[in-house]
Amino acid sequence: MPEPLGEQKTLYVVVCAAGPASEVGTLVGLAQDRGWTVQVMATPAAVSFIDIEALEKQTGRPVRSQHRAPGDPRSPKANAIIVAPATFNSINKLANGIADNYVLDVMNEAIGLGVPTIILPFVNSAYASRSPFRESVEKLRTEKVFVLIGQGAFIPHEAGSGSSGFDTFPWQHALDKAEKNI
Ligand SMILES: Cc1cc2nc3c(=O)[nH]c(=O)nc-3n(C[C@H](O)[C@H](O)[C@H](O)COP(=O)(O)O)c2cc1C
Repeated sequence: MPEPLGEQKTLYVVVCAAGPASEVGTLVGLAQDRGWTVQVMATPAAVSFIDIEALEKQTGRPVRSQHRAPGDPRSPKANAIIVAPATFNSINKLANGIADNYVLDVMNEAIGLGVPTIILPFVNSAYASRSPFRESVEKLRTEKVFVLIGQGAFIPHEAGSGSSGFDTFPWQHALDKAEKNI
């Protein structure tokens, strides 16, 4: 296991509206154990999938899903971003430069700035077989974004069987990838 980071680093954990979103506290805890400051962000659709109060207590920071109001404190700058679980919808939008919500805005800019970005999808094999999705994965990889799908990473499940994959969702793998690439 990698050593805890010497100085405090900030990880943005971006949550999309897919099944394992409710378990994202697992990733937050793993990252905190390794010395990261964690800022959780959620797509508007993911807000109802997560326990905002519990995550705010765990991180000591507000969960962000909207642009801040003037005067509200800024989030610390990210040293790395993990998008987990990442949906079919958000992966396709991000690959194509669409920024129609707060987290997509943040991620589109961060990729342009070269912030290490790791995407851990949670999609079924029907979604994963679509050519727009496969093209999106390739486009993101061309931009040096890590998309953790395939052997040794997230393997798409059959449509309708998603909940069986919650327990084995590879949160740790995404964190390892972030630490290797900061
Ligand atoms: C209960 C539920 C489970 C869902 N699970 C998934 C999923 O596992 N993967 C996925 O890509 N979309 C899933 N969706 C569909 C997304 O929530 C939907 O496409 C949404 O618009 C995604 O928004 P976001 O990408 O902004 O988070 C699910 C929707 C619901 C209501």
